Amino acid sequence: MKIKKLFLKNYRNYDEILLELNDGLNIIIGDNAQGKTNLLESIYVLAVTKSFLSINDKNLIMFNNSFSLIKGFVQYKDNCDELEVLLNSKGKNVKINKKEIKKLSDYISRMNVIIFSSDSVRTFKDSPSSRRKYFNIQISQINKNYLSNLNNYNLILRQRNEFLKIFNISKKSDNDYLEIINNKYVNLSLYIYNFRKKYVDYINKYLDNIFYSITNLHGLKLIYDSNIDNLDSKMFIDKLKNNLLKDIQYKMTFIGPNRDDFYFELDGKNLSLYGSQGQIRSAVLSLKLAEVNLFTDLLSESPILLLDDIFSELDIYKRNNILKYLNGNIQTILTTTDIENIDRSIREQSNIYKIKNGKIISREII
Ligand SMILES: Nc1ncnc2c1ncn2[C@@H]1O[C@H](COP(=O)(O)OP(=O)(O)O)[C@@H](O)[C@H]1O
Ligand SMILES: [Mg+2]
Repeated sequence: MKIKKLFLKNYRNYDEILLELNDGLNIIIGDNAQGKTNLLESIYVLAVTKSFLSINDKNLIMFNNSFSLIKGFVQYKDNCDELEVLLNSKGKNVKINKKEIKKLSDYISRMNVIIFSSDSVRTFKDSPSSRRKYFNIQISQINKNYLSNLNNYNLILRQRNEFLKIFNISKKSDNDYLEIINNKYVNLSLYIYNFRKKYVDYINKYLDNIFYSITNLHGLKLIYDSNIDNLDSKMFIDKLKNNLLKDIQYKMTFIGPNRDDFYFELDGKNLSLYGSQGQIRSAVLSLKLAEVNLFTDLLSESPILLLDDIFSELDIYKRNNILKYLNGNIQTILTTTDIENIDRSIREQSNIYKIKNGKIISREII
C-alpha cells in the first residue's frame, strides 16, 4: 500500500499542510526541531491511532488549539481509502471513507506502518511492558481479532486479580468460581501466546540475513521469553494451581502472557546485556526490515516504512545498502538533517521535501 497524500491540520507544529508522496522513496530534509519526527509520527497515528511515543494523545494537538486532524489517501492494489483521525478534548474519532468506525481494531488493521526511530531502540532497553505493547500493536496491525482477544484477556486478568483479593481457599464456591475464571484465562492466554510465538518465528526467518547485510555479522535471533512456553491447557491449569498461594499472597497473576518478554540474542548471548549500542540499533533496524517482509507476505500488501533520522547515530551502517535493499517496492519516508547522507543515484529517484518550522519550504526532484 502507498500513502499518496497526507493532510494535517493543527498537528504538533504543523498548522496546515498537504503533502503528496511518491510510491518509492520520499526524503524529508530539515534541521533539528523543524518537524521531521512529527511528520512521521502523524503518519503513524493515521495508521495506529496513537503515537509511537509514550505520550498522551493531547500532546499531538497543536499548542493552543482544540483539535487536530490527520487525513490520508491510501492506495491499495485494487482500491483506495480515505482515512481520518480526529483528536480533540473529548477523545478521538476515526473514519474510513468518511464513515465513522467505532471499533479501533477494525480501523488499525487497515493501513500498516513500520517505524524505525530512536524510540524504537529505547523499546528494547525499557521494561518488558514496552516490548509487549510494541508487539501487541504490530500483531494487531496484521490481525483484527488479536486486539479484541487481548482486550478480553486484560479484562479476565483484572477479574482474576480482583477475585484473588477476596478469595477464600477453603470455600468450595470460591474454588468453583476460580476454576471458571482460570479456564477463560487459559484460553485467552494461549491465543495470545500462539500469535506472539508465530510472529517471532516468522521474524526469525528473515532476521539473521538482514542483520548480516547490515553488519556483516551472523547469529541474530529474536527470543520470545514466556512462562507459558510449550504448555497445553491442562499443563497451564496445573501451573496456575501450583502458583495459587503466591498469586493469593500478592493478589496478582504470575503465570501468563502478562509476564512475557522479548529480546535479541547474538550468538546465544542477550544483546541488551552484551551488545554494543551500534549492534542493538542494527538489530532493531533488522527487526523492522524483517517486519516489512512479514507484513508483505501475510497481507499481500507492503506496509509503509518510516525511517526517522537513521543515519545520525548509525555510522556502522551500510546506509545506502539499506536503501537499495528496499528496492523501490516499499514506500519509504525517510528523514535526515543532511541530504549528503544519501547517494546521488538514490536521491535522483526520490521525492525530496525540505521542512522548516512546520512548513514545507521546497519540493525538489534532484
Ligand atoms: N503540540 C505541539 N504544538 C506545537 N508544536 C509542537 C507540539 N509538539 C511539539 N512541537 C514542536 O515540534 C518541534 C519538534 O519537532 P520534531 O518533529 O521533533 O523535530 P525534528 O525535525 O528534530 O524531528 C519542536 O519545536 C516542538 O516545540
Ligand atoms: Mg526528530
